[in-house]
Amino acid sequence: MRRTIKTAVVTGASKGIGKALVNQLIEKAYFVIGTCRSGKSDLLNPKFEMRTLDLCDLDSITKFSDDLKSEDVKVDLWINNAGVGPDLDNSLPDADTFDQTFDVNVKGTMFLTESILPHISAEGIIVNISSKMGAIDTCVKTDSVAYRMSKTALNMYTKILSNRLKDSIRVVSIHPGWVQTTISPGCIHAPLTPKESADRIVEFIRGDFETGIFWDVEASQFLNW
Ligand SMILES: NC(=O)c1ccc[n+]([C@@H]2O[C@H](COP(=O)([O-])OP(=O)(O)OC[C@H]3O[C@@H](n4cnc5c(N)ncnc54)[C@H](OP(=O)(O)O)[C@@H]3O)[C@@H](O)[C@H]2O)c1
Repeated sequence: MRRTIKTAVVTGASKGIGKALVNQLIEKAYFVIGTCRSGKSDLLNPKFEMRTLDLCDLDSITKFSDDLKSEDVKVDLWINNAGVGPDLDNSLPDADTFDQTFDVNVKGTMFLTESILPHISAEGIIVNISSKMGAIDTCVKTDSVAYRMSKTALNMYTKILSNRLKDSIRVVSIHPGWVQTTISPGCIHAPLTPKESADRIVEFIRGDFETGIFWDVEASQFLNW
């Protein structure tokens, strides 16, 4: 399917930061494809469609990517936003939350990205929604082991991919700020609304940033890996 306006894909678009990103990108005149496990959305807009994607299921990833190929979709902006944090605030690691976290935040996100690379426009952008909780340099905490490690791993993928794609597609890790979503009960105390975070993310992406960086949109500054 050929579109005359820019196309963006946002994973994890059913709620939280992802849903706010969809609204912001529609406002900035993108056609947006969102994803979530149910494939359902209460957002009705001719510039938006929601598709089914389960990042824990490699068949679901393959089907999603095959559909883009058969429709000849070219994507200008790809945002890997979907993420989970079942061990957020837990003090010790456990096997179940570790597997869940890595399946979505690392394995699913990485294999999805690899499968859709041929569909990204030559001067396209890939955004990995990371977290400063994945920053090694400044970490003084002991909690949320799987979540922190998953975002550190995602950051490494940002770096590797930006090295591989240099001179064409730009790849960036973004910390969206501490945002009022349901990813963890503690987020009820967060300072940013999803809209405020999404506005800052989109403003940053539309600017002239260098590939392979880790950027904090809450503080408007580079983060150390
Ligand atoms: N909130 C914060 O303060 C904060 C801070 C730093 C980083 N982040 C990062 O920001 C991103 C968005 O987080 P959020 O706070 O907006 O979380 P959220 O409100 O819980 O939304 C998470 C999204 O991920 C999707 N998702 C979960 N499991 C999935 C799976 N197996 N396959 C496909 N999609 C799946 C969910 O869709 P369905 O459940 O409908 O499938 C939902 O749309 C995450 O990567 C998170 O780590 C958030």
